[in-house]
Amino acid sequence: MRIGYYQYEPEFGTVAKNLEAVRARLEQADADLMVLPELFASGYQFVSAEEALRLSEPVPDGPTTRMLVELAQRRRMHIVAGLPERAGSQVYNSAVVVGPSGFLGCYRKSHLFFEETLCFSPGDSGFQVWDIGQARIGVMICFDWYYPESARTLALMGAEIICHPSNLVLPNCPDSMPVRCLENRVFAITSNRIGTEARGGKEPLTFIGNSEVVSPRGVILRRAPRDGEELAIVDIDPAEARSKTLNPYNDLLRDRRPDLYHQ
Ligand code: ACM
Repeated sequence: MRIGYYQYEPEFGTVAKNLEAVRARLEQADADLMVLPELFASGYQFVSAEEALRLSEPVPDGPTTRMLVELAQRRRMHIVAGLPERAGSQVYNSAVVVGPSGFLGCYRKSHLFFEETLCFSPGDSGFQVWDIGQARIGVMICFDWYYPESARTLALMGAEIICHPSNLVLPNCPDSMPVRCLENRVFAITSNRIGTEARGGKEPLTFIGNSEVVSPRGVILRRAPRDGEELAIVDIDPAEARSKTLNPYNDLLRDRRPDLYHQ
């Protein structure tokens, strides 16, 4: 199975231009599953809730999801990608899952980071897993990684590949995802962006790149540079994520002790 990420620098607010740039680049990707960054076509640093609302789109009937569905159907690939989702008067930091059969679903970010809390409603979709034929995939968005419960929940639900659209600004995630993968024995694709946004007199945010594909043994199969566009595709066997047996005595998920854990 060929899985990958596209790390690039969107231009804030120019959705149509960003969509066209990504469409043109993915046109050349020979992959089964591609992950794009969080808020990949809108940009990240909204100056107000009104601005986030203005750039948000209904799902699946908005321009971003429509472009992704068209691309996924024509190229026969699955795509997971982040966008600001409008649902009534609420705006969620969401990621859609699309494939050759069309729109599959949408995950709404559970753990909002920093000033996202001013622009978005906390996600209410819960964690979800989709069977895309070659593998079962789950989605978490950026700061969700900071809560080990996110990846654990997806693993307990049967996810073999965690798709992780991101706009990372803190330095810790790229070196932490191998642990998330090791402790759950899953693959992960973190698709981050690059560049700096400094809007409306706010503190500048520099995105750290370093998108990566990590194996269930915690091995970084591919990592992008800190600052540079990269489309990468890695060949994997999703079956590697199916057995949680560590040795004849230990099974990763079976040996959990929920009776000792705090909720
Ligand atoms: C983040 O959650 N975008 C850091």
